[in-house]
Amino acid sequence: MKNVEIHCNLTEYESVDELDLDDRELLVEAKASMNKAYAPYSHFHVGAAIMLENGIILRGNNQENASYPIGLCAERVAIFAAGANYPNVKIKAIAITANSDHFHVNKPITPCGACRQAIAEYEHRYAQDIRLIMAGEAGKVLIANSISNLLPYQFNADDLKIKTT
Ligand code: THU
Repeated sequence: MKNVEIHCNLTEYESVDELDLDDRELLVEAKASMNKAYAPYSHFHVGAAIMLENGIILRGNNQENASYPIGLCAERVAIFAAGANYPNVKIKAIAITANSDHFHVNKPITPCGACRQAIAEYEHRYAQDIRLIMAGEAGKVLIANSISNLLPYQFNADDLKIKTT
């Protein structure tokens, strides 16, 4: 028997002002997408923006539904759009941000568990780490260089002995 210790590596920035230009610009895209979210039930608007290897940026936002569970998170709307429209184009980065009609989001929003799994699928598919830039309306910004920092011990196609590339 042995104890396994896992280290997750994230960088915390005091504010967006400390970010590199590329990261800041992708967050601006995520924010623009957030403003178009359809969130009449939670009133929590999430925006995501994806940078592809070819320089194309894709946006996604949460799409809610009167049948609550079928709504989809911003991250998956964006990453599925990438998969659907640009198959085989590597995903370099995803920026995520959120606001609420009810409170000030003053800390970074990190993807939910299901979205972490979806992002992991694309990292694995393209054998390319995806940089995650996570912010709120204000306050600190978190950056991770790979989803493995948010989802250790992930389940992927290797466990099924299936090749996706
Ligand atoms: N949501 C996202 O879009 N992304 C996340 O990472 C967390 C949650 C959405 C789902 C739902 O529409 C609303 O935020 C409240 O949970």
